[in-house]
Amino acid sequence: MMDKVLVTRRVFQSALDLLATRAEVLVSPHDRDLRAEELLEMSAGCRALMTMPADRIDRPFLTARPEVAMVANDAVGYDNIDLAVARELGVVVTNTPGVLTEATADLTFILLLAVMRRLVEGDRLLRAGLFEGTAPMFMLGTDPKGKTLGVFGFGRIGQAVARRARAFGMNVIYHDVQPLAEAAREVEAEYVSFEELLARSDAISINALLNDKTRGVFNYQVLSRMKPTAFLVNAARGPIIVEADLARALEEKVIAGAALDVYEFEPQVNPKLIGLENVILAPHMGSATREAREGMALLAARNIVAFLEGGEPPTRLV
Ligand code: DGY
Repeated sequence: MMDKVLVTRRVFQSALDLLATRAEVLVSPHDRDLRAEELLEMSAGCRALMTMPADRIDRPFLTARPEVAMVANDAVGYDNIDLAVARELGVVVTNTPGVLTEATADLTFILLLAVMRRLVEGDRLLRAGLFEGTAPMFMLGTDPKGKTLGVFGFGRIGQAVARRARAFGMNVIYHDVQPLAEAAREVEAEYVSFEELLARSDAISINALLNDKTRGVFNYQVLSRMKPTAFLVNAARGPIIVEADLARALEEKVIAGAALDVYEFEPQVNPKLIGLENVILAPHMGSATREAREGMALLAARNIVAFLEGGEPPTRLV
């Protein structure tokens, strides 16, 4: 009998076709975030799951479904999965690094340029019928050239953002748990302490994983130590920023602006942010290109197939 695999959202057919070579594939009929009880019910009898960032794979789930021996997250971030519990219970976990790096770095940089140049604000103004022709002092933004970008989290995506920043004439500094000398040399990025990152950056790009060390790091106190002219971009995970504190900081002009792709209580967005002019709000679309999303689903499927065949999944975490 073939193993059963659950895929919790609609994904590219090529990935489903690959899975179907080794397994009976069940795709959630809803194509929306599943409630915990729905996930539990649909996973009955499944040996492997292809999960999404909204699926919580924790102790209650894994103990209730001991038949689930493998979880392939269709995302590079894996904060939705309790890796310690998976390790303890012998459940294999994989993610999708690499295939979405450039797409996510592109969106990060689009957000950065858009907030520095007030593009979305300008679009809103025009649609509201308020465009009366350009003028020397109209819609003035900030040049990236010669400014300092601080990258918080210097992994693959942070490094790809740094490469884009260098191409735009920016200086790059970064902070991570430790210096990454070789990667930093390539983009001439300087390792700095967190305090220095806050004090020196004209813009900070958050590209870190969400974990106990990064959760809630950007609170009001921290934002107050940034330059009043600085911008904050987050295309990583929402809970790294305390969203109510960011709204307050933006309202009080503690920093100049922000551009977000992810939210603390996703898909909810702090209503105060929605009313502010100096913040761009994107709907978690960092890796949303056809190429990246197909690559992610295929990599997740390859991980599952390798596991079902008794081999080593290519991007195993646990
Ligand atoms: C990721 O890969 O972690 C993305 O956030 C998924 O959309």
